[in-house]
Amino acid sequence: MITDQFGRPMRDLRISVTDRCNFRCHYCMPAEIFGEAYEFLPKDEILTFEEIARLAGCFADLGVNKLRITGGEPLLRVDLPLLISMLSEIDGIEDLTLTSNGYLLPQQAQQLKDAGLKRITVSLDALDDETFKKMNGRGFGTHRVLLGIQRAEEAGLSPIKINAVVQKGVNDHAVVDLARHFKGTGNIVRFIEYMDVGNRNGWKLDEVVPAAEIIRRINEEMPIEPLEGSYRGEVVTRYRYKDGEGEVGVISSVSAPFCGDCTRSRISTDGSIYTCLFAANGISLRDPLRAGATDDELKELISQIWGARRDRYSEERTELSQQPKSSSQGTAPKKVEMYQIGG
Ligand code: GTP
Ligand code: 5AD
Ligand code: SF4
Ligand code: SF4
Repeated sequence: MITDQFGRPMRDLRISVTDRCNFRCHYCMPAEIFGEAYEFLPKDEILTFEEIARLAGCFADLGVNKLRITGGEPLLRVDLPLLISMLSEIDGIEDLTLTSNGYLLPQQAQQLKDAGLKRITVSLDALDDETFKKMNGRGFGTHRVLLGIQRAEEAGLSPIKINAVVQKGVNDHAVVDLARHFKGTGNIVRFIEYMDVGNRNGWKLDEVVPAAEIIRRINEEMPIEPLEGSYRGEVVTRYRYKDGEGEVGVISSVSAPFCGDCTRSRISTDGSIYTCLFAANGISLRDPLRAGATDDELKELISQIWGARRDRYSEERTELSQQPKSSSQGTAPKKVEMYQIGG
């Protein structure tokens, strides 16, 4: 097991398998920037399945036991079930999951399960078509996503987590409806505070609905009480419905950051390691890999990078925002985009 400068072990690896997406959520890939002419990565810059599996094996040897496949939208990657089956054979990986927008899930859920995927997280920001169409930037309704969730349940990818990013004035009216819809189904909705990831979504603090407010609104309609966390480094704060009809959660990375326990490493689509969701730069693992590095050499490099890690961006953001205005001004640092490392 390796630890960073603050004693945090490396436990999770999140791998982005494509930078493309069939949605254009404004908080991630605004349509006015990511138009028809936008150039995504050429194929030769993207890690192959063999390269991904080899790197994942190195991470597993260094203590990672949880793998999450992300994108862009991972279900757009051709033959994804083949990659899942390769990853499911790696020793030491106890949890193998994926984050998807759900649109292609109806036709892929069973294949993914058969390939060895354990569970799945589906992003869904509203139940009403009008809000959802606006948010995904492509005018898609919720029907296929809800069908995808149903197919995933039938395939046994449960418990399914439903992630909803909450943006004030955009979909905060949808919070209670979403919670109610999934209450009693065994699926778990988690409301995510809108974050300042990337450089292109025009994030403003006053568009964040604090987790405490989300919880207050749900509790008013359907009484809930706090639950114990499941594991160290969990990003979600969990609540259970008092009537026993399941649980709901909030991810409060803006109002109550959780960097202190952050055990997450990430690999971007082009094979760089990022030790924080808000990092400016990654370090290429693909280049040494393609230059013929051995597994031991790759593991040594990853250990050095993790060992030097001092990231705690969300906590620093909070500290800065509490300082007098003049000292918190200046140019915003450049950050990696969410669709390159998948959240
Ligand atoms: P489970 O084990 O299924 O609960 O997954 P998880 O807790 O890792 O959650 P998930 O991967 O679904 O992450 C949910 C959301 O939380 C992401 O989409 C991000 O928006 C946010 N998030 C996840 N990890 C981090 C992190 O390290 N830092 C910050 N600031 N936000 C994160
Ligand atoms: N703030 C919070 N969550 C975000 N996601 C994407 N962009 C943001 C943001 N700016 C979430 C998506 C999805 C996951 C991949 O990351 O909703 O659940
Ligand atoms: Fe696509 Fe997910 Fe980004 Fe939305 S948040 S544009 S679904 S990658
Ligand atoms: Fe981890 Fe960076 Fe998120 Fe903090 S901001 S929890 S260090 S990924």
